[in-house]
Amino acid sequence: MRKINIFDTTLRDGEQSAGVNLNLHEKLEIARQLERLGVDIIEAGFPAASKGDFQAVQAIAQTVRNCSVTGLSRSVQSDIDAAWEALKDGAEPRLHVFIATSPIHMQYKLRMTPEQVIETAVESVRYAKKYFPIVQWSAEDACRSDLPFLATIIEKVIEAGANVINIPDTVGYITPKQYGDIFSFLKKNVRNIEKISLSAHCHDDLGMAVANSLAAIEAGATQIEGTINGIGERAGNAAIEEVAVALYIRKDYYQAETRLNLQEIKRTSNLVSKLTGMIVPPNKAIVGKNAFAHESGIHQDGVLKEKTTYEIISPQLVGVQSNSMVLGKHSGRHAFRTRIQELGYLLTEEEVNRLFVRFKDLADKKKDITDDDLIALILDEKLDTYKNFYQLCSIQVQYGTNQIPTAVVVLKDGEGNDIQEAATGAGSVEALYNALEKALQLPVTLLDYRIESVGSGRDALAQVYVKVSLDGKEASGRGTAQDVLEASAKAYIHAVNRMFVIEKMREEQALAAQ
Ligand code: KIV
Ligand code: ZN
Repeated sequence: MRKINIFDTTLRDGEQSAGVNLNLHEKLEIARQLERLGVDIIEAGFPAASKGDFQAVQAIAQTVRNCSVTGLSRSVQSDIDAAWEALKDGAEPRLHVFIATSPIHMQYKLRMTPEQVIETAVESVRYAKKYFPIVQWSAEDACRSDLPFLATIIEKVIEAGANVINIPDTVGYITPKQYGDIFSFLKKNVRNIEKISLSAHCHDDLGMAVANSLAAIEAGATQIEGTINGIGERAGNAAIEEVAVALYIRKDYYQAETRLNLQEIKRTSNLVSKLTGMIVPPNKAIVGKNAFAHESGIHQDGVLKEKTTYEIISPQLVGVQSNSMVLGKHSGRHAFRTRIQELGYLLTEEEVNRLFVRFKDLADKKKDITDDDLIALILDEKLDTYKNFYQLCSIQVQYGTNQIPTAVVVLKDGEGNDIQEAATGAGSVEALYNALEKALQLPVTLLDYRIESVGSGRDALAQVYVKVSLDGKEASGRGTAQDVLEASAKAYIHAVNRMFVIEKMREEQALAAQ
């Protein structure tokens, strides 16, 4: 297995993402986590860029012991001096010095001739070598540079003492095959190239940063630069976690490995996302919320029978606790039944089948079916099975601006007996609920009451949601009716009945366990 060094630039190129600004404390926290992840090199910032960057690079160099800390520098002595001051206390001080080599950059940005660029590059490396044991030299916009020119300048900076040569695809323009060809060309045409380490640095403008990095490894690169979650300038950099996991999962093909502790990936991704404020897209490889979520019935059934049918990466490998079966309209009976069992409910096959029909109905209307939705479905199914609970027969409420609101309710209990009660309250709903409480003879506490209209217009239906508690147990209920008060009464009775279902199911399960 070839060893591939991971050069993390989350704190430098990653921080160049539009809208991201990390303070010293946050940078240190990320650096410590990168150390735990096991990256080989941390590019902590650009010391000459600002006082804040200088202080952050210095603090990180003084803190991190298990990896090399580096800082970026233009090819000018004052940048190199600042970088040395910031990095000299590090475990392995390393400079990252760069200059652009493409005709576009040399002509329009640097306004230098190719000869001047070579001279400046060589001088900067010589100067840096007076301080730094390791100097990495980067040819900015290397992939749009003239290849023979690139080979010439690289040969000269190696002569001047550069230890690592980085070939950045600064604008994310190259394709995997072309990128690999550049590495092969340089390996063939640069004297002493075998004495240095070749590095790849890819941007994702065409969505090929990771593929290009892997192509570079195939062509002989021994260092990959990238960021956590692929954040970075414009469309971002190669995502380190994707490169590392690709090498691990496809070691049969790449025959190369990193020293990353892959189980720290998810934690690192979460931390970077939290501190930078850059949300990880749900479908992002390795670290996205959906990376290990299965929704379709066919996939769920396959994974429940044998994970490897649809999972090439085990979630635990990257520090994710487990895969998840998202219950939605594409889900199948197998995942549905499994989730019900996980929630602790014992249902007959017949009940599961009936419930599955209700579930599909709900899934057509609602995108994500939560555990609470499932429990509500189960309780209602059981309500239909047990049947003998309270039924609301009628309500009568009197309300007037200067009168005390009064409610009369009639219920039928499980044995079919009528119960009638009346009560007053500060408002109509309170009078109604006081009357219901009296009729039930139960100390029910109302925890939540919400009302919304179903549809618009004055004839819209009222939908009431309540949560109640009784003897430390909680249940929710819903009621819909043309009238707000009737909907309120139905929701209350629904919640109380569900409470009895919970109780009855507990008794049944206790009996079954004996
Ligand atoms: O993308 C790039 O060219 C860079 C260099 C400074 C290495 O980030
Ligand atoms: Zn870059």
